[in-house]
Amino acid sequence: MKRSKRIEALDKRPVNLDGFINEWPEMGFAAMSSPYDPKPSVKVVDGKIVELDGKKREEFDFIDQFIADYAINIERTERSMKVPSLTIARMIVDINVTRKEILEIITGITPAKMTEVMNYLNVVELMMGMQKIRARKMPGNQAHITNLKDDPAQLAADAAEGALRGFAEEETTMGVARYAPLSAMALLIGSQIGRPGVLTQCSAEEATELELGIRGLTTYAETLSVYGTEKVFIDGDDTPYSKAFLNSAYASRGLKVRFTSGSGSEVLMGSSEKKSMLYLECRCLYATKGAGSQGIQNGSVSCIGVPGSVPGGIREVLAENLVAALLGLECASSNDQSFSNSPMRRTARTMLQFLPGTDFIFSGYAAEPNYDNMFAGSNFDAEDFDDYNVLQRDMQVDGGLRPVTEEEVLRVRNKAAKAVQAVFKQLGLSPITDEQVEAVTYAHGSKDTLSRDVTADLMAAEDVLKRGITGVDVVKALAEAGYTDVAENVLSMLKQRVAGDYMQTSAILDKNFKVLSAVNTPNDYMGPGTGYRVEGERWEEIKKIPHIINPKDI
Ligand code: 5AD
Ligand code: CA
Repeated sequence: MKRSKRIEALDKRPVNLDGFINEWPEMGFAAMSSPYDPKPSVKVVDGKIVELDGKKREEFDFIDQFIADYAINIERTERSMKVPSLTIARMIVDINVTRKEILEIITGITPAKMTEVMNYLNVVELMMGMQKIRARKMPGNQAHITNLKDDPAQLAADAAEGALRGFAEEETTMGVARYAPLSAMALLIGSQIGRPGVLTQCSAEEATELELGIRGLTTYAETLSVYGTEKVFIDGDDTPYSKAFLNSAYASRGLKVRFTSGSGSEVLMGSSEKKSMLYLECRCLYATKGAGSQGIQNGSVSCIGVPGSVPGGIREVLAENLVAALLGLECASSNDQSFSNSPMRRTARTMLQFLPGTDFIFSGYAAEPNYDNMFAGSNFDAEDFDDYNVLQRDMQVDGGLRPVTEEEVLRVRNKAAKAVQAVFKQLGLSPITDEQVEAVTYAHGSKDTLSRDVTADLMAAEDVLKRGITGVDVVKALAEAGYTDVAENVLSMLKQRVAGDYMQTSAILDKNFKVLSAVNTPNDYMGPGTGYRVEGERWEEIKKIPHIINPKDI
């Protein structure tokens, strides 16, 4: 065939490097509904749910049983199930119906009913729902802080810059898993230099992650994964019960925890039971709620290529975020792993959470260049900071970030690298040279820095664990090295663990360590003139992008 030059040009566009597949429900490739999804139903006998979404109690798998016993309001359920799904869908977008009223009805509906409700909402209605149902009044943002070399000095510098740029939470993970104690420490110190009160976590194998948390080297945990089918749950070496137990272990030491789930995981692991991604994700979210977690990181997250490949898949991603909010969970709404070669598609996907605002619009914005992202690359990277800031300004939307000056960036990066250098020295860990401090201060990424002595680092990391070094030792080391302000900030983070207020739903801390959560700053949106508005100081801050013409200077 003689080719059309027009079509040839289109074929070469980045979007055509993406993978697309039509619905194939038998293999789980169905976004919001599958012909095999169950019909909603519930039956209560003697205060016990004996039928759930078409299954009798005898046929329950462990997820059904967990949901029936712990995630549904048994007193309410038969009443809630009688309210037509279309009525609930309309209440969600009706500015005259309060969030509280809707959440109360929702406590009694089943996962299949929740799926049905979502199917009545188009993508704009889902956004309207999110604007009203999100837990915290003002939205927030979370960063990935990682690098290819697992370099603690760069981690600290990037954490400081990320905190300065407005991220309320920062998470790290490692190229080499054994670096975890050093990475957690670097993140803890760096974050408190960029902006006091930023929460940090280190995503590692679960026992290590818990240990780092207990020792006060992290201030929250996030990757407690749950899945929508029994087979996939078991493949992950887990059950809803083991996750609930792990959640309690963190809670017992006063740590903020959120779970992680998201559509596509069951498809990728080959056990979707022919159900739609949304229905399976609803099951995950009910399990999360039943386990007592205050929140969830969801929106497909690391499996975004799967919903991204099917019709309506990106609508489904927002729907699963909204389901989390409807269950009263804090929602860190993904925009995490990169899923498309098309900058247009990447941006469009993010607008669904950016415009209404979620508790954390990104559950992992890459605050480093893509090549340094050890979480497999994010939808937005460090190169996109200015674009993002302009989007906030264009639309007068709070995306959780702020423009910064080069002077401030260099100052906090340098201080963070130096503070980590001093702490490592005080604690007798692997040395960080002055040249390394200099390099990371000015670096874009690890291509601009010196290499580490990996053997020495790994011995030091092991030493941290062996010697039982804790957050308090970090505070002492900072104080002894003359970083008293940083020492006080890290100590204030540790004190949160005793107070426990930041375990409330959707909690973040402001720069004075004041908790902002769904309890003391709940979302009160009820249409125009209500809820969170970008104005005053925050609007002035958003407006201050670099490269701007100031009429006063002309
Ligand atoms: N379902 C469950 N867990 C997920 N994670 C990411 N995406 C999902 C998902 N769709 C968790 C995993 C992973 C970490 C980065 O986040 O635990 O290791
Ligand atoms: Ca995350």
